[in-house]
Amino acid sequence: MVEASKAQLDRGAHMFGSLNDVAVMLAERLVNDIPCAEKIAYATTGSEATAYSMRLARAFTGRSKILKFEGAYHGNHDYAIVSTFPKETGNYPQGTPDSYGQPEATVSTMLVCPYNDLATLRKIVAEHHADIAAIFAEPVQRIIPAEPEFLHGIREICDEYDILFIMDEVVTGFRLCYGGAQQWYDVKPDLSTHGKVVGGGGPLSCIAGRADAPISTARCTVTRWPRPQPWRCSTSSASRASMTV
Ligand SMILES: Cc1ncc(COP(=O)(O)O)c(C=O)c1O
Repeated sequence: MVEASKAQLDRGAHMFGSLNDVAVMLAERLVNDIPCAEKIAYATTGSEATAYSMRLARAFTGRSKILKFEGAYHGNHDYAIVSTFPKETGNYPQGTPDSYGQPEATVSTMLVCPYNDLATLRKIVAEHHADIAAIFAEPVQRIIPAEPEFLHGIREICDEYDILFIMDEVVTGFRLCYGGAQQWYDVKPDLSTHGKVVGGGGPLSCIAGRADAPISTARCTVTRWPRPQPWRCSTSSASRASMTV
């Protein structure tokens, strides 16, 4: 790893959202190894990958809300840190902020549901589906593995209401088994987010997903695409040193 990373550093540290040879080689491997991956977009951290994928779900569906599960961790941004450590539970689907400084407007775009509870999920989605862009789930939520029927149920509900199923595989990807939880549980999400192992410990993350998902690099919303293209690029997404293959 160290030797391979050093060799890449000699060739430049940044990707700047453009393509390079290792990025393409790694993407080819990822498309082969991650069941839902028809294409790949890179970012730098797991938090960035989850934030981008929430934005692209909103752009893709034209809906504003994301449903997450109580106790799930999806990174450090304002949309993710909702009801991760709620002081009280039960007021579903209303979420509670986990940090001082979080805007109320952001928290109110998140809906929260208890984990492994398909009946409550069905109830919330039946009521709010017109606003829900994506259901976001960790397949092993911290230390709680999903019941297989729970993940299959999320897939069915998403298909029924045209909601995107985003599986957060930042922890489980390449670890639960090589194809991640989506292979282990045999459930294909529309998108999955990957971090940690994907960069071999270096700063790299990715979004894997459907061929029609608007995850190409774009600096602004443009209208020449069939669907609105959400912003997704940054200086270090992603550095060659983390992309050795
Ligand atoms: C499931 C999950 N999603 C997202 C993240 C955020 O990743 P990062 O710390 O690289 O921003 C983490 C971090 O531990 C995680 O466990």
